[in-house]
Amino acid sequence: MRVLVIGSGGREHALAWKLAQSPEVSHVFIAPGNGGTAAVGQNAPIAATDISGLVSFARQEQIDLTVVGPEVSLVAGLVDAFNAAGLRAFGPTQAAARLEGSKAFAKQFMVEEGIPTAPATIFRDYAAAQAYLRQIVPPVVVKASGLAAGKGVIICPTMQEAEAALRQVMVERAFGEAGDECLIEDCLQGEEVSLLAFCDGKTIVPMIPARDYKRVDDGDQGLNTGGMGGYAPSPYLPPALVQEIMARVLQPVVDGMRRRGTPYTGVLYAGLMLTDLGPRVLEFNCRFGDPETQSLMPLLESDLVEICLACIEGRLAQIQVRWSSDHAVCVVLASGGYPGDYTSGKEITGLDKVSRTPSVVFHAGTKQQDGRLVTAGGRVLAVTSTAPSLAQARTQVYA
Ligand code: AMP
Ligand code: GLY
Repeated sequence: MRVLVIGSGGREHALAWKLAQSPEVSHVFIAPGNGGTAAVGQNAPIAATDISGLVSFARQEQIDLTVVGPEVSLVAGLVDAFNAAGLRAFGPTQAAARLEGSKAFAKQFMVEEGIPTAPATIFRDYAAAQAYLRQIVPPVVVKASGLAAGKGVIICPTMQEAEAALRQVMVERAFGEAGDECLIEDCLQGEEVSLLAFCDGKTIVPMIPARDYKRVDDGDQGLNTGGMGGYAPSPYLPPALVQEIMARVLQPVVDGMRRRGTPYTGVLYAGLMLTDLGPRVLEFNCRFGDPETQSLMPLLESDLVEICLACIEGRLAQIQVRWSSDHAVCVVLASGGYPGDYTSGKEITGLDKVSRTPSVVFHAGTKQQDGRLVTAGGRVLAVTSTAPSLAQARTQVYA
């Protein structure tokens, strides 16, 4: 099979790395890829949002399976365009990807399906939102409804901050069209967990639970980032709780989407808060997590190609998804200054030494330049180690 991965981050390197191990796969292409993906396949310089360019490439290269990383591609309708061209792509259609693309849609859907989530009110009108805000007691969470690269959620401990956030989203339009609709949501307390699952429109198979850490500094301190690392499996989600989330959240999503005529296929990622009253959904993502994928792929024993095809063909119930009993820890190396200003183009050396230890180095912001590997982004590398214990994996990854 000829396989295409869409995207350029550490997540996509991990997906391409895993797909390349399949005995079914002869060629892996990554569009646009990065300085590391070229080691597991062939990079194609096409942007993840250039849907017609990607369709032409997939036709020309006779791609049998396309696996999509970023949400922007899915929300823009990549899977619909590929299907229309007779090409197989793993991920939700545009209508199903609205679970991530519109927080207003996701909230209304959860209310209609009785899925536990933070109570919220949705506004299109700034004056109405302002008036509502004056009647409630902070803390509160203000959310732009549309895609905002993870930045459109503002936690507001005080009324002043809530008013400023609302202005930022609805008046100053800091997130552009994503702020056409705005949610004012109750602020929940608790431990945050993510559960990702494979879906074929009907059946849902959870992955092992993974944890990611978003703060830039050691000890979970400092500014929020795209994710500085994580581990799997997460002790915060024991099997009984996974079953509860399956029954109360994931299965109702898949059933509800199918009933609406927009079946959900691909990876469904539920971000949850474990509150005193039980798990509550914070958000859905319609794709693999980054950096969760860099911890999960090294633990996945089954063939990812087989899983993707079973999802696309609606036969997920007939296959077994097997995981290693090991633990994986992933640590991100970032450019100095990230998530603020940083410089790029610095040479990366020493990776040949890493290949001799039981670790994998996934690339994110790297590129090949004049025969050298150089930095090309904020998050540069994600190093993952696996071992029989979490402590051992952590020691190994830092070494
Ligand atoms: P999202 O982009 O929706 O994942 O939100 C980003 C982050 O904001 C989440 O990972 C949570 O840490 C936080 N968050 C979102 N909604 C709430 C809420 N209702 N209460 C507390 N924290 C929240
Ligand atoms: N790790 C969070 C995300 O992928 O959205």
